[in-house]
Amino acid sequence: MATQKHGLARGLTNYGDMDFSLYLRRANAASMGYGRDPLSKPVIGIADTASGFNNCHRHVPEMIEAVKRGVLMTGGLPIVFPTISLGETFLNPTSMMYRNLMSMDSEEMIQAQPMDAAVMIGGCDKTLPAQLMGAANANIPIISLITGPQLTGHSEGERLGACTDCRRFWGKFRAGEIDQAGIDKIESRLVTTAGTCAVMGTASTMACITEALGMALPGTAAIPATHADRLRASEASGAQAVVLASSDKDNSLIPNRIITPKSVENALRVLLAIGGSTNAIIHLTAVAGRLGIPIPLTQLNILSDETPVLIDLKPTGEHYMEDLFKAGGLGVVLRELKHLLNLDCMTVTGQTLGERLEVEPEYVDRTVVRSLDDPIQPMGGLVALFGSLAPKGAILKRSAADPKLFETEGRAVVFSSLEDLSLRIDDPALDVEENDILILQNAGPKSDAAMPEAGYLPIPKKLARAGVKDMVRISDARMSGTAYGTIVLHVTPEAAVGGPLALVKNGDRIKISVKNRSLDLLISEEEMQNRLKKLHIKSPPKYHRGYKKLYYDTVLQADGGCDFDFLRDPSLL
Ligand code: FES
Repeated sequence: MATQKHGLARGLTNYGDMDFSLYLRRANAASMGYGRDPLSKPVIGIADTASGFNNCHRHVPEMIEAVKRGVLMTGGLPIVFPTISLGETFLNPTSMMYRNLMSMDSEEMIQAQPMDAAVMIGGCDKTLPAQLMGAANANIPIISLITGPQLTGHSEGERLGACTDCRRFWGKFRAGEIDQAGIDKIESRLVTTAGTCAVMGTASTMACITEALGMALPGTAAIPATHADRLRASEASGAQAVVLASSDKDNSLIPNRIITPKSVENALRVLLAIGGSTNAIIHLTAVAGRLGIPIPLTQLNILSDETPVLIDLKPTGEHYMEDLFKAGGLGVVLRELKHLLNLDCMTVTGQTLGERLEVEPEYVDRTVVRSLDDPIQPMGGLVALFGSLAPKGAILKRSAADPKLFETEGRAVVFSSLEDLSLRIDDPALDVEENDILILQNAGPKSDAAMPEAGYLPIPKKLARAGVKDMVRISDARMSGTAYGTIVLHVTPEAAVGGPLALVKNGDRIKISVKNRSLDLLISEEEMQNRLKKLHIKSPPKYHRGYKKLYYDTVLQADGGCDFDFLRDPSLL
């Protein structure tokens, strides 16, 4: 009896007598009301990420009911288990700090508990990447079930969606274009339904990437959170999990058969074609890194040159995720990119990507998804820059930036930390002009701030009020996927570990060239070395215990996906 290796008999608790362990486990399961028959079925774990601190997952309980229905219909036993949930705006210092913790929680709970397959429900920014990182090494099939985007709201005839419009109106408020009553009214209209941010921010980007990787059912990335199709997708995910759980061990579609170098390349193509979030390159690097798949930023540049931006969604364009859904969903983008994709990649349906695209519906709304020969932009949304200021690279979302600033040389105006930034950015005496380059130091993964989405430095109030809308801004921080502007991020190595960003002084000249993919601090090598010798590296915050100690002891730079060194495949270290 105890040799049974599926369902409840997987991974028995060890008391030194395995028959006893199974008997005891069944007795405890029976206390939850299960009869012997259901306990003999394939067990499908359902990762529950509902939380009172995660508005984007407000509808997860309803999705879980639909998943359970799909599992039961197909002959499995659904068992729900909780994991950490990361509500983007509710975590201090950043949700990013806890992404790796959630990945560990997800990985360990999948492994430690007896399930034959799992459906992992995620959506808000860091949750899908954390779950994919945790799933990567699982030895059971996993299906990602995406929570879906919010619907847009309205105010005085204007359509609003988090969070590009959050930033747009905050910029107007700072510039004095709207008053306190106006911004209060906008605040109450920005987020009006369950689901993730309504634009192509990090959550939507990761949803599209998850579908492109083959880890979610086809057509599920863009379904609005509140749409009945979202529940149908949940039901179908539960049903498909039972199918996958029932396949024999040798043919089991475990994640490492789906997340491969070829599917990762497909995901990068999609990231570029959707004008996706800069955060996604860090997350995808971390997910792929768990399986020893490298993503050099030079590869990103090659793919970026060949892959046009096809969709017209904020923050790059005009539309919202619900419009992408109505326009045909991510499948349309995949169909347009077909000749650039690796079509033999396997997906959780058991079909290859190519087989999926053969039956993809024809319909498309060309105002939202453009054709390959009439793209929004001829090249991909992201580009990596290298040079004396960023020897290991930095990222610019060129699709959301002002092309007039792509070839720029300017004077550095330096802020040494987030505190310094908030103290001085609006000081009327700040020596800053429109053509200067704003620099933020000490906001990378090892800084006290733990790499917040602070790379979208505000335009100094006095310039904003004079009508300046964009400036080149450079930092080792990240940026919300919903933000826009000529913003260079993820400068690696970061200032807190003595990277060249730490050496920049007020008045230095900095040169950015998107054409040449370069980012340089225009001082001599000798001066660079002199400054390096005198540099006082502010050591990372010291924690003697707990998760924060683990974080600061082991977190990698952006080019390592900000994963922990002991979680990344050793071949990449
Ligand atoms: Fe959850 Fe934006 S706050 S996706």
